[in-house]
Amino acid sequence: MADEAERDMAIRGTVAIGADHAGFALKEWLKARLAESGYGILDVGTHSADSVDYPDFAHAVGDALVSGKANRGVLICGTGIGVSIAANRNPAVRAALCQNVDAARLARQHNDANVLALGARLLDRDIAAACVDVFLATAYEGGRHDRRLAKLSPRPAGDSEPDGTGSLQSLRREGV
Ligand code: RB5
Repeated sequence: MADEAERDMAIRGTVAIGADHAGFALKEWLKARLAESGYGILDVGTHSADSVDYPDFAHAVGDALVSGKANRGVLICGTGIGVSIAANRNPAVRAALCQNVDAARLARQHNDANVLALGARLLDRDIAAACVDVFLATAYEGGRHDRRLAKLSPRPAGDSEPDGTGSLQSLRREGV
């Protein structure tokens, strides 16, 4: 039985999961479901409902992917927005904020997303669970999407507009 569980874990891989206080309860519930399904779990916290800062957990999930301790990530905050912004600061991460199963499937098929971001305050927990299941079970389609993913690499400063001025610089000029 223990051998079977270990084999399932090896096949399914390890999911790094993290949340802030707003996502803590959902994280605990999802974690138990994932363990039952045979996934390895790396819980990077938080470990209580006390107020914390979501970037800390988003960065910890990114670190787990970079080090190879996990091959997928799930991040949860109140809206999912904060953790997705923070996680995507890491060039090795493609975090997708999903609010339904179709988005979770397409995030894998088209974007090869490696982190699923969820908003605990906006999502029914059964939908959150269905998003996780589909995200972890769906393969990247490759093909035409490879070309687009290649264009997601971080861009050199000043290279974000065809004339080379950079969108940040233009925004500053325009006082936005
Ligand atoms: C915490 O109150 C909340 O701001 C956080 O969980 C998240 O929703 C931020 O994007």
